[in-house]
Amino acid sequence: MSKKVLITRVIPSIAYDSLIAAGFDVTVWERDTPMTQAQLIEQTKKVDALLSLGANKLNKEFFSACNHLDIIAQFAVGYDNIDVAEATRLGIPVGNTPDVLSEATADVAFGLMIATSRKMFFHHKTIERGEWKQFEPLKNLGVQLTGKTLGIFGMGRIGMVMAQRCQGAYNMNIIYHSRNRNIEAEKLFNAKWVSFDELLKESEVLSVHSVLSEETQGLFNKSVFSKMRRSAIFINTSRGGVHNEKDLIDALREGTIWGAGLDVTNPEPMKADNPLLTMPNVAVLPHIGSATEEARTGMARIASGNIIEFYKTGKMLHCVNPEVLKN
Ligand code: GLV
Repeated sequence: MSKKVLITRVIPSIAYDSLIAAGFDVTVWERDTPMTQAQLIEQTKKVDALLSLGANKLNKEFFSACNHLDIIAQFAVGYDNIDVAEATRLGIPVGNTPDVLSEATADVAFGLMIATSRKMFFHHKTIERGEWKQFEPLKNLGVQLTGKTLGIFGMGRIGMVMAQRCQGAYNMNIIYHSRNRNIEAEKLFNAKWVSFDELLKESEVLSVHSVLSEETQGLFNKSVFSKMRRSAIFINTSRGGVHNEKDLIDALREGTIWGAGLDVTNPEPMKADNPLLTMPNVAVLPHIGSATEEARTGMARIASGNIIEFYKTGKMLHCVNPEVLKN
């Protein structure tokens, strides 16, 4: 009998098409809002494999009802919505979709850095309000990026592309802090590993590319912002949970740091009356890091490929808990 797969939102059709071509029985949640937890559990109970999205909370409650799953294939590189320890305990492999979205996500970080440094979103809004009256020699000046020090927090695949962009475009000096040294980044960009405190002290632009974990949850808070330069620009395209948003608002209001560019907020979605949206030195986007045709198609190809490969060979294209895979 065919294995049953649930895809929890409509994603690029390559996922559905390749699963069908490989003989799977596929159900897609076709509504344009995510499933509630009850709907997710009810629908998952009927299938063998789950193709999940970040909005699905695969927590202890979920796993106690759905411990029968053969495999979870996440349509994202991040998987902080999944209790991977619990999946591992149950012997359920979890796949993700790295690489294909690194360029797209780094582009958003790079774009936010420029937009913030020149207050672009703010200036755009002044035109919409009919406030563009004349050339202003002294007002709303931004800062130049050439030769500045870029601090990368989390030098993984996306951090590497951001470093490449910033060095190529602005000859920026690259420092980074990661759990592990990234020798390739050191060779390619002359990037220097520094302690977390040094990263805060030296970065003129600090860009977050880490995972959200117990260690990074709320890490960028009042005390951390107070150790940064008053001229610093904070960029976050990883997860909103890595920064404390109230503390970020205070740091910007009080001039503890200079500006911020966010593709991820805390909570998401951000409310329309959030004070960050009216601050000149802030640029906010609605979590669009991987939102290109190419990246989303690649993510759909890998997520479905993880399921197909798992049933065919017992292996996966990208698995975050490979210890549960046999051999
Ligand atoms: C998007 O946020 C992802 O983790 O892929």
